[in-house]
Amino acid sequence: MTADTQGLLRALIGGALPNEHGFFGPFGGRFVPETLVPALDRFEAGARDALADAAFHNELRQHQETWVGRPTPLMYAPRLSEAWKAQVWLKREDLAHTGAHKINNALGQALIAKRIGAERIVAETGAGQHGVATAAACARVGLPCIVYMGAKDVERQAPNVVRMRRMGAEVRPVTTGDATLRSAVDEAIRHWVGDPQGTHYILGSAVGPHPFPWVVREFQKVIGIESRRQMLEQVHGLPDLAVACVGGGSNAIGFYHGFLGDSSVEMHGAEAGGVGAAVGQHAATMSGGTPGVLHGSRSMLLQDEDGQVSDTQSVSAGLDYPAIGPEHALLAHVGRVRYHAVRDGEAIAALDELSRLEGILPAVEPAHALALAKRLCEGRDHPTVLVNVCGRGDKDMPILTRLAEQEGR
Ligand SMILES: Cc1ncc(COP(=O)(O)O)c(C=O)c1O
Repeated sequence: MTADTQGLLRALIGGALPNEHGFFGPFGGRFVPETLVPALDRFEAGARDALADAAFHNELRQHQETWVGRPTPLMYAPRLSEAWKAQVWLKREDLAHTGAHKINNALGQALIAKRIGAERIVAETGAGQHGVATAAACARVGLPCIVYMGAKDVERQAPNVVRMRRMGAEVRPVTTGDATLRSAVDEAIRHWVGDPQGTHYILGSAVGPHPFPWVVREFQKVIGIESRRQMLEQVHGLPDLAVACVGGGSNAIGFYHGFLGDSSVEMHGAEAGGVGAAVGQHAATMSGGTPGVLHGSRSMLLQDEDGQVSDTQSVSAGLDYPAIGPEHALLAHVGRVRYHAVRDGEAIAALDELSRLEGILPAVEPAHALALAKRLCEGRDHPTVLVNVCGRGDKDMPILTRLAEQEGR
């Protein structure tokens, strides 16, 4: 690490980043049409006010304890540990209400939306977990909710569409563009530009214009804070390795924030390696991307030489996105976190291994983190590894059923 990058990491840990323009070093910012600036300013002021208010934190904690089911458990995985020749610990975000970490952010933003007087919520979703979390949070606080979802994802994550509609949300399938998460974000932003005063956009990952990456991280930080405390209580030490999957990067950034200042903890992110290394076959942004602007912020991006955003492919709708949150771009830049591509096949094998050895069916997204953790344990002497199991696999039934049919099971 050079003195420069060390300074950036210190500034991040010390809370000086993002700066007043929303930049995490060279990444982040606000690249949006002028019509959105007042809405972003209002949201930023509302978030700063709420996050500095003890009454808001009390209200949030009550919802977390009685409705979300926090703290989520930290669990030792004995049979996986034996198989990997490691001490494997799992942070069970899959046990949070609605089945994934997405509820942490959706609830926090819905409470802020209520405080700033929003009349309705718009959201995007890929795997459907953020849509379900937002539908649930809107039901809880009493706000109407519209969710944009790529038509391809409506099909592969069908159970979540039913869940959202049952909780009163309107789901709008998006058939334009690649009909996945990227197009859903495009449509949600378009909707918001049309009514920036009445609507609050609950963005579901640590991406987008300032203040979203910062606000989303603040609400997901609970994962890392709890994990660190639970490791110290249950294991009497910190992990050697901390591993999470990275789509836009919300579960990972919240998880990493517990350990950023612990230099003994090596941190890694698993990106969607899809079916190959060629352009269009994966969504491994950090491994194959270059700096660019998408959806309102400057970060790492899968794009061609003319800045045209590349197509992506992944078995996991939640990781199938050509960009990554700006704070991750900074963490890679300063060398604090290393990012790796994990192919579809490796992830599905890890999903099966966790299911068979521990009786836990994870979502296909954290299955990427499990596969990477296994890879990282090889050649080390019984490392202590902590994996963020950020969601459960119920939503993946259509994909898993198709795979089982192909395998003749
Ligand atoms: C279970 C699960 N994990 C991970 C992700 C990826 O999102 P992020 O990188 O923001 O955590 C998603 C997104 O939909 C998800 O549903």
